[in-house]
Amino acid sequence: MQEELYRAIFERRSVRKFEDVELKEGVLARLRTFTSEVRPLFPEIRTDFRVVGPEEVKGLFKVKAPHYLVAFSEKKDGDAANVGFMLQQVDLHLVSIGLGACWQGGPRLTRASREGSELEPVILLAFGIPLRDERRKGAPDFDRRPLSEITEISGHEEILEAARLAPSAMNRQPWYFTAGENGSINVYAARSSVRERMNLVSAGIALCHMWLAAAHQGFSVGFDREPDETTGPKGYDYVATMITRHASGAQSQVGNVAKGGRQVS
Ligand SMILES: Cc1cc2nc3c(=O)[nH]c(=O)nc-3n(C[C@H](O)[C@H](O)[C@H](O)COP(=O)(O)O)c2cc1C
Repeated sequence: MQEELYRAIFERRSVRKFEDVELKEGVLARLRTFTSEVRPLFPEIRTDFRVVGPEEVKGLFKVKAPHYLVAFSEKKDGDAANVGFMLQQVDLHLVSIGLGACWQGGPRLTRASREGSELEPVILLAFGIPLRDERRKGAPDFDRRPLSEITEISGHEEILEAARLAPSAMNRQPWYFTAGENGSINVYAARSSVRERMNLVSAGIALCHMWLAAAHQGFSVGFDREPDETTGPKGYDYVATMITRHASGAQSQVGNVAKGGRQVS
């Protein structure tokens, strides 16, 4: 299952044009089951996911789709990254079963649909049957910054490459990766007064891709929220650390940190 999601990283593209048909109830039921079983980044944060129709969604940059998956969360430190991490597994799963999706940071639930849940809606994923097959054929099809702009780590290339290809709000790629202790990777999100939440969701998405790439390489993966370096890059906030262990239990070898560890602003 994780392997299918990993493969989908290199094929996915945001889908904004869908067939004007609803998915069969059986497909939606299986999707609900899949969603209820995704891995959380921070298991202590309560979440809930609900599929709604287009009449329950309004607002800026709304993509017209037959269905929207809404992520609700308890309001807690780490909530946005956690939801990004969880919903990205659904995004990739949809690709792997021939459907398509688009993250929806602008649109909101209508007031009536927000009621009845003690958790806060964080973000939506529009989904359905793509009008055309727009899947990518590999990394060259992605419009992304090079690794040298988003990390100082040398080593862990496959893991960082998967993070590099992650989707982000307005394709801003608001992340930076530094080497932590024992081969762990610290993840930071660009600080912003207006885009803070979306940047954190995007960092959670990148963490999901990193986990899948590490699992693909045979590592078992854990997450921590204690940076082992007190200072991150300038203008960025710490989000989480990914710790990888070989199945044998040994921690992975650290990639060398580039000399003079460049500052990012
Ligand atoms: C957190 C987040 C919010 C987004 N919000 C919107 C949105 O409101 N409307 C939209 O059309 N696309 C939205 N997108 C899609 C991005 O524009 C898209 O992922 C990015 O341009 C990269 O393109 P790709 O997904 O095809 O790789 C969002 C993506 C993310 C990750």
